Amino acid sequence: MTSPTPIYDTLQRPFRDLRISVTDRCNFRCTYCMPAEVFGERFHFLPKSALLSFEEITRLTRIFLSFGARKVRLTGGEPLLRHEIEKLVAMLAALPGLDDLAMTTNGYLLPKKAAALRDAGLTRLTISLDSLDNDVFRRMNGGRANVEDVLTGIRAAEEAGFAPLKINTVVQRGVNDHTIVELARYFRQRGHIVRFIEYMDAGTLNAWRMEDVVPAKEIVARIDAEMPLEPLQPNYAGEVARRYRYRDGGGEIGIIASVTQPFCGGCTRLRLSAEGELYTCLFATQGTPLRDAMRAGADDGQLAEMIRTVWQARADRYSELRAQATPEQKRGKVEMYHIGG
Ligand code: GTP
Ligand code: 5AD
Ligand code: SF4
Ligand code: SF4
Repeated sequence: MTSPTPIYDTLQRPFRDLRISVTDRCNFRCTYCMPAEVFGERFHFLPKSALLSFEEITRLTRIFLSFGARKVRLTGGEPLLRHEIEKLVAMLAALPGLDDLAMTTNGYLLPKKAAALRDAGLTRLTISLDSLDNDVFRRMNGGRANVEDVLTGIRAAEEAGFAPLKINTVVQRGVNDHTIVELARYFRQRGHIVRFIEYMDAGTLNAWRMEDVVPAKEIVARIDAEMPLEPLQPNYAGEVARRYRYRDGGGEIGIIASVTQPFCGGCTRLRLSAEGELYTCLFATQGTPLRDAMRAGADDGQLAEMIRTVWQARADRYSELRAQATPEQKRGKVEMYHIGG
């Protein structure tokens, strides 16, 4: 591979991470992402022909790597619902220059998939789990799974060699915030890193209100009161989670405070949707249709030019400007299950 050419956006941020959504489907119905009232039996998901094929994803990823991306994360919807996802993992893992190939999953299908993912070359796994209280968890996931299902998935991931894992927990006031200390304690004992995520106004479907957000400071204070914490330096520039370690021995947690302490200044991410739209922000209203260009016959040089142009024109910093977002912008936001969080 020739050495990558870094690209910078209008705020001088380099492009470094690619997040690829491989399906818009999910077997859960989390109230803050795919509420069951909206995503019922008759909801039309993308047909297979609309999805990027594994070959198309791999071809685009090679181009993204030529701009200096080092990290790729597979998301969904629920990525393990994509048929033979381990084949895509193997194709991506074989690309020169890709150091870090991760996946964010709800964990339900890991007992079937964890070993195959490891064998195919996946380097890291992040598993979402919002509470260890089964009633609370079921209420949050639309009644689709029990805590035990996800814990079984976590065990499968451990056995396949993915430990330490990251566990993503979205915190909603009055919903699961009374269960966060228990969750922190449980995963500390098992050597995994819980990241508590401030509930965000992502998409248009979750009726988000500022009152529902538990600010990072409060999350840290509640855990600190039971298990004293101290801040840690970031692992790398632009890390999304702020790290803390337990003072009395091992273990760490992360806090993703995109509402109360936005991190747009270090945002180096591009998101590719399952149908091949390229988005420059989690809160974007419009994407760039790379799939259509590819299927119309664009060559690699032309696709690279499109990607470069998109990145170089990028000025997004939604989380920093949240208070100023217009109603139009709020109504037009892409949905989380489309671009994978
Ligand atoms: P590491 O590679 O382990 O550092 O992963 P990461 O921190 O990128 O983690 P992950 O992809 O699991 O992100 C966790 C959550 O943080 C996502 O599900 C989102 O809710 C939130 N998040 C990630 N990236 C962004 C972002 O660019 N903007 C905002 N507002 N939130 C983000
Ligand atoms: N706010 C914060 N995090 C969210 N996620 C999905 N929707 C939201 C939201 N509104 C998280 C999930 C999962 C990841 C894919 O995105 O919990 O960890
Ligand atoms: Fe599915 Fe994840 Fe959305 Fe929940 S948050 S509905 S598990 S994609
Ligand atoms: Fe990046 Fe947009 Fe998130 Fe800011 S709000 S960190 S620009 S994805």
